[in-house]
Amino acid sequence: MKGIILAGGLATRLRPLTWVTNKHLLPIYNKPMIYYPLEALVGAGITDILITSSEDHAGHFENLLKSGSGFGVRIFYAIQKNPKGGIADAILLSEEFAKGEKIVVILGDNIFRFNLKQSVERFNQQEKGAMIFGVRMPTDFGQYGVIEMDESRKVLSIEEKPQHPKSDIVQTGIYMYDNRVFDFIRLLTPSGRGELEVTDLNNAYVAEKTLQCELLDWWIDAGTSFDELLRANNLVAEKVKKGEL
Ligand code: DAU
Repeated sequence: MKGIILAGGLATRLRPLTWVTNKHLLPIYNKPMIYYPLEALVGAGITDILITSSEDHAGHFENLLKSGSGFGVRIFYAIQKNPKGGIADAILLSEEFAKGEKIVVILGDNIFRFNLKQSVERFNQQEKGAMIFGVRMPTDFGQYGVIEMDESRKVLSIEEKPQHPKSDIVQTGIYMYDNRVFDFIRLLTPSGRGELEVTDLNNAYVAEKTLQCELLDWWIDAGTSFDELLRANNLVAEKVKKGEL
């Protein structure tokens, strides 16, 4: 299975910090933000990882992470031409890199505590379909995708930033797909905000009843605002000092 970290977008909400570098390179306590998804992939046994980003500051990733040998992996880089093309648009960049294998995608601003190794092994045994990861938290802020699933963890629906959420399960930024994902993306059309949405992509798997969901116990989306960035720094510092992260 191949790994992909999405580190695109312009992060206008975090200016002036993001005038000088990419959001995913900002510090979260003692490490650059992108270290968290990267270490999650390394811990899951993924050895080939593609980082996608927009053109501005793209070289900063290479300066920091180089070939990946410091992490025991191989890191490749790709540029997303439209920095606001959407998450599914960025995933499409990995088609050649995936070489027919399944992929695991992590959004570059997602910080979590969860060992993905067993999920990767389970997903590798699955013939087809996709797997997403949710977390129970208040969903009434209209900020995230919201997942509705049954007792067997089969996903019944996902709504993007709903006004009236159907559950308390937020869709995080960790996704595993079979290699048909690229064909599904080619069928998508841009949403109201002009993006190829990951929620529309995941709903293509819902339609064929092959989307499973696993639950994380702790997750934070560090890149949405100054307050979330600060909260992520404080929470991570606390967890690192307690030896929990
Ligand atoms: O973080 C989880 C949420 O991520 C999910 O709950 C939502 O269902 C999902 O749509 C997404 O929501 P956001 O609107 O918060 O996504 P955002 O535009 O903030 O992008 C998330 C990450 O993906 C960010 O680290 C940058 C990267 N990205 C985003 C876009 C739009 C790209 O690499 N390329 C892009 O074109």
